Formats: sequence, structure tokens, C-alpha cells
Amino acid sequence: MNYQKYQRMYHPVHLENREWCDKIITHAPIWCSVDLRDGNQALYSPMTIDEKIEFFEYLVKLGFKEIEVGFPAASGTEFDFIRRLIDENRIPDDVSIQVLTQAREHIISKTIEALKGAKNAIVHLYNSTSTVQRAIVFKKDKEEIKQIAVEGAKLVKELVESQLDGNIRYEYSPESFTCTEPEYAVEVVNAVAEVLKPTPEKKLIVNLPSTIEVATANVYADQIEYMCKHLNNRDSLIISVHAHNDRGTGVASSELALLAGADRVEGTLFGNGERTGNTDLVTVALNMFSQGIDPGLDLSNIDEAIAVFEKCNKIPIHSRHPYAGDMAYVAFSGSHQDAIKKSFDYFENMPDAKWANPYLTIDPSDIGRKYEPIMINSQSGKGGVSYVMENKYGYTIPKAMLPEFSAVINDLSDAKHTVLENEEIHDAFKNMYINIVEPIKIYSYKSNNDEASTTVTATIGYKGTISMIEGHGNGPLDALCAGLRKFFDLDFEICAYTEHALERSSSSKAATYIAIKYNDDEKVFWGVGVHENINTASIYALISAVNRMIVDEVE
Ligand code: KIV
Ligand code: ZN
Repeated sequence: MNYQKYQRMYHPVHLENREWCDKIITHAPIWCSVDLRDGNQALYSPMTIDEKIEFFEYLVKLGFKEIEVGFPAASGTEFDFIRRLIDENRIPDDVSIQVLTQAREHIISKTIEALKGAKNAIVHLYNSTSTVQRAIVFKKDKEEIKQIAVEGAKLVKELVESQLDGNIRYEYSPESFTCTEPEYAVEVVNAVAEVLKPTPEKKLIVNLPSTIEVATANVYADQIEYMCKHLNNRDSLIISVHAHNDRGTGVASSELALLAGADRVEGTLFGNGERTGNTDLVTVALNMFSQGIDPGLDLSNIDEAIAVFEKCNKIPIHSRHPYAGDMAYVAFSGSHQDAIKKSFDYFENMPDAKWANPYLTIDPSDIGRKYEPIMINSQSGKGGVSYVMENKYGYTIPKAMLPEFSAVINDLSDAKHTVLENEEIHDAFKNMYINIVEPIKIYSYKSNNDEASTTVTATIGYKGTISMIEGHGNGPLDALCAGLRKFFDLDFEICAYTEHALERSSSSKAATYIAIKYNDDEKVFWGVGVHENINTASIYALISAVNRMIVDEVE
């Protein structure tokens, strides 16, 4: 690969006393959704007006107070949508709509026209300032590019003041900021602010976009800290960040930019946007939530957010998406499954305890999800198998039995080359252990106690013949063991026994687990009996274990 072809496109900042790296995020920023503009312009089929209205209303429901609704001069749909929002009174009083305009006269005029009657709005003016854009696209020098911004700002101010009577604020973006020399970016923004004359009461939003992400997130943080420290009248400015995701670090860039002093974050739900997307606001917000910070957005029904997003944007959410993906709360690794289960068990009766789970950053139920669909594949271990059998089917498999059964499940999944359905695991358990009737089938049994011992007589079928067997012992199970030993000439003993009620079954049944082993060998054979009668369940468990021993011997 011809890596020599590439060069660093950004302008590193030499910060004297860099502060952002010692900070942590303590509160939510001002959020601005650009779904209806940056997100929408990046779709194969942009939203219809009705879809835009649905999306806008949903953003309001989530709690956004600043929403970039479009680029009104770009198309009739954009313009008409904004008019409908205003004319149909669809904008709550505490929400500002934001509109984007280039610094060009006819575009600014159309933009201002679109805003007539708006109560609260932000006019967002931008022009490109980077070295590449100046040299290749605009073929203008620094002074000329600065003048585009200044002239644009003058016209915006003049038209807003003469034509609009709502609460109209301003935003300026030196587009391609991350590829602009930082001193020059300061010069341009200061010149624009000179025109717009912000005050601490009516601040100018200075949006510093990572229009194309060209460096690691720390470089963006340096650039933002530099701007915060060098711009005039910082207290009259809201520093906003708008990161794209070309390097896959849009979220990290915005988070580090917050450490570096940004007050506001622009982005989209689930990161939709030009090329590889914009900063994913759902992830940034839930990252904060996961650290005990109120994100100021209500994401308690993540599936509803996905539904609106997918319907209006017509693109799916990736299954590995943080927080929202189908697989976000599914663990495959056995040790992960085990640890997650232990953590859930640990906190079961501690509703007020702080969340701590080795593999889940948040409790899925906080965003309307469940950790239920645990997946069993060939990488899963005992924990996952035991979880499924217990939580789905009510079987508390004894610890000593689990290695054997989970190895069988691993082999099954390995052979299938994919995950196993829960029912496949349940079927394997039933076929392997429960009430096994081959080669011995027990038809009936009777037990009698006298003072010294118990006698069991049982009718069994074996290789097409019905026989009566009898044994004596210190309980029905012990007596049946004796009868089986004698009849089949087998030298075995019971080495493990547990039982429990099968609570999840429709009728109340008992499950009994019995392990037997040869007296001169360590090899163990498990069997499980399930029956309404606890004694019969244990008899069935014993017969199942003996059947497995006999089959093993034959093999
Ligand atoms: O990415 C970008 O630079 C933009 C600007 C218009 C803010 O979308
Ligand atoms: Zn953008």
C-alpha cells in the first residue's frame, strides 16, 4: 500500500499548559441535533416533510432544545418543512430551531425568509477556512476567506435585525476547522464576533467542526483548548463542537473536546451523517449516563429511538452499535456469561446499590432492554449453559454435572458453526439425561419397609423381555440399586444426589439428579428424573444413570 502518498492534514497545536487531559466530564453539554440537516443530507433518500416532522417531534420528546432543522436555501422541501414547523406552531417555546447558511448573499436572504415568524432560532453561518479549501476549492488567500465570513456575518445581522422579530441567535462555523491553522481560525472567529457583537447575555455560538476527522482525538482537544484560551471575550461565546467520524473516533473527539472546554455538542442519533457519520449523540449521552451523570436526554426507550431513526432514515442500526445494537447485551464467552450472571445474582436484592457489572456498562433495563438473549456458541462455557437451563427451563444443574453437559453443547455448536437456540440446548439435555428408557425401562415399582430395611420390587423391560427385579437396602433408591446391581451384574454406587422443584414447569414437578460410578473406576454417569412424585423422579434418575452406564459399556 502506497502510504508515502499521504501526509498529515492537520495543524498541531503547541499548547503550553495543556489542561484537558487532567479533567473529567462532570455534566451534560448543550446538545444540538443535526439529524435533520447533516444527517438528512447524507441519506440516499432524504426525508420527506412528513418524516422530518415525525423526526423533529421525536427529537423534542427526547429533550433536545436546539435542533438544526435544515438548509432552507438548498431545496423546496427544506424551505417548506421549516415553514410548516413555524406556520403550524409545532415548535415548543423552549426549543430553538437552527438553520444553516453559506456566507453568500442569495442564500442568506432565502434563509432569513424561511425564519419569518420563528420565536426562537439560530442562524448558523459557515465558510471553509482550511489550507486545502483555500488553495484548491476557493483559490483565495487568508484575507479574502476572512472577508467572506465577515461580509456574511454583516448581512446576516442586517437581515435578522430588519426582517425578524423573534429571539434570533447566531452561530458561526469556520468549516474544516481541524485543517485550519489555529492562529488563523482565531483571527477569523474574532473578526466575525466583532461584527455580531455577542454579550454574556446573548452569546455567539462558535462551532469548531472536525468537518473531516484527520487526527487522533487528542489533537482535536488541543485545538479546542487553544481556541478557548485565545478567542476574545470567551464569556460571550458558546464553544460548540461538531465532529465527523472519518477515523471512527467522532465520539472520542467530542468527549475530549468537552474536557478541553467545549460547552455544546452537535451530532446525530446513532451517528448518521456525511460519509462515516457525525458524532453519535446517543453514545455520548449514554457514556455520561453510565458514569452517573444526568445526560439531559431521555433515552429510556432505546427501541423507540431506533424505530423512529430506521423509519425516517431508512438505514439500519449496526448490531454492534454501543448501547443500541442487537448484540450490545449479549455475551458469548463462557467466563463473561458467568461473571454477568454472578453480578446479577449479587445485586438481586439490592435495588439501591450502585451498578457494577464486569461486562455490562449499564443495566440494559434502564434503556428498555434485557440481558436475556444469552447466546451459546462454541466459545461459551458452563456459565451460559447453566444460565439458560436455569432461567429458561428451571433446571439447576449440579456444578459437578456442568462440565460434561457444557462440553456436549460446545461440540454441538462447533459442528453447527453457529449459535444454538435455547430449545436446542434444552433438547440436548432431555435426550441425554432425562427419564432415559433405553435399554432399561421401568414400568412399575413397589417399595415395602420393615424395621430392618426397604424392599423394592420393580417391573422392567430390557431387550424385549419383561422381568421382575428385587433388591433390599436402607431406602427405596438404595434397594433399587441393589436389585439392578444383581440383575445386571453391575458394580456401581451412587456418588451424587440433588433434587429441586421444577418451578417453571406448568404442573409442579420434581427434578432429581443422580450420579453413579463403578466401584473400581472414577468415571461418573449422570441421570435426571423428572416426575410429579419426588420418589419416582429419583427412581427415574437412577434408571437414566444406569442406562447411560450400560450404553457406555457397550460402546
Ligand atoms: O461538518 C461541518 O463542518 C459542517 C458545517 C456546516 C458545520 O457540517
Ligand atoms: Zn458536518
